[in-house]
Amino acid sequence: MPKLIVVNRDGEERAVEADSGLTVMEAIRDNGFDELLALCGGCCSCATCHVHVDPAFKDKLPAMSEDENDLLDSSDHRDESSRLSCQIKLTDDLDGLRVTISEED
Ligand code: FES
Repeated sequence: MPKLIVVNRDGEERAVEADSGLTVMEAIRDNGFDELLALCGGCCSCATCHVHVDPAFKDKLPAMSEDENDLLDSSDHRDESSRLSCQIKLTDDLDGLRVTISEED
């Protein structure tokens, strides 16, 4: 069961465990972080699941689709570490992944 470290908008960090196969968005939401709205439910059309991913994991993440890239462009808080958390499936390979919930747009 991969462990995920989530940093909220106040900078507080908490480790959660999630089943492989869940998305990072689902794992965050299921563990009570209400800052992550994930309004579209994970179908890559809202960008309210924006997170910043620890650069150490960059090479292990799935490639970004054109849709995800376009949606992230709509955020004022996009940077090199930005991803939509609904587009990252948790695997054992991502054990220990650290994500920071992005500021609200
Ligand atoms: S939940 Fe809407 S884009 Fe991720």
